[in-house]
Amino acid sequence: MQIFKNSVILITGANRGIGKSLVKALLNNGAKKVYATCRDLNGMPEFNDSRVIPLELDITNDDQVALCAVAAPDTEILINNAGGVNPGNILEGNPIGMDKDMKVNYFGTIKMMRAFVPVLKKNTPAKIINIVSIAAYSPLPSIAGYAASKAALFSATQSVRIELAKEGITVHAINPGAIDTDMNKGSDWDMPHPDSIATKILAGVSEGQLDMIPDEMGQGMYNAWKEEPSKLSQIFSDLYHGKNER
Ligand SMILES: NC(=O)c1ccc[n+]([C@@H]2O[C@H](COP(=O)([O-])OP(=O)(O)OC[C@H]3O[C@@H](n4cnc5c(N)ncnc54)[C@H](OP(=O)(O)O)[C@@H]3O)[C@@H](O)[C@H]2O)c1
Repeated sequence: MQIFKNSVILITGANRGIGKSLVKALLNNGAKKVYATCRDLNGMPEFNDSRVIPLELDITNDDQVALCAVAAPDTEILINNAGGVNPGNILEGNPIGMDKDMKVNYFGTIKMMRAFVPVLKKNTPAKIINIVSIAAYSPLPSIAGYAASKAALFSATQSVRIELAKEGITVHAINPGAIDTDMNKGSDWDMPHPDSIATKILAGVSEGQLDMIPDEMGQGMYNAWKEEPSKLSQIFSDLYHGKNER
């Protein structure tokens, strides 16, 4: 994974789940420096590696985002991993949860891209890697606000890919299915460990994949969508209405 070797990467939500696994995979792949950011540095794991620079960062906080861009001026690869999910469907779900999902997943990630593009422009060839979700393709109503925020993020990711096409910054969208992290706590689905997903994400990006589904469940869902978008809606309808209810 030559692309990550000797690179300087900043990652959001690095304290747990996919973010933590990405930090470990980046270190294993010869990264020069990893700015590992999270909301509460007391919760940052010990990576026991001097290449890791921990930074405090809530991606909804304008001041922290701006400070972070100043503190990490050599960033060449920005990984927007931080995200949150609030349960609820469109008709009866709590609008506060929907608002939070939008603020973090969509507007928070946009804030990060806006703050870091000037940094990345100075450090080309550069990359933005956004962790989106298979729910960007079709909503699962039990987490409809999350799905909407990820659909919006997927759209923004593709827009920024075009906006930056001539600037030496490649923009990647990663759309996983269910991964075994706190986000799916309590689920009895058979899900891959985030360590294996992190390795696949780095491999896919290194191969130049701009749109990537790094897991089997997500790939199956994507294939159903590709055949006919209503087929993925049917999978989510079955999940929502009882068969294998989430
Ligand atoms: N797990 C899945 O099935 C799955 C599938 C598709 C996509 N994804 C996406 O993958 C990404 C990582 O999720 P995960 O599965 O690793 O979930 P996770 O274990 O719940 O981790 C979420 C991470 O995002 C951070 N975060 C939340 N809000 C934040 C904010 N405002 N500012 C900064 N950091 C914030 C959390 O920090 P705190 O510890 O401070 O809360 C945590 O580090 C998310 O974008 C998620 O939507 C996950």
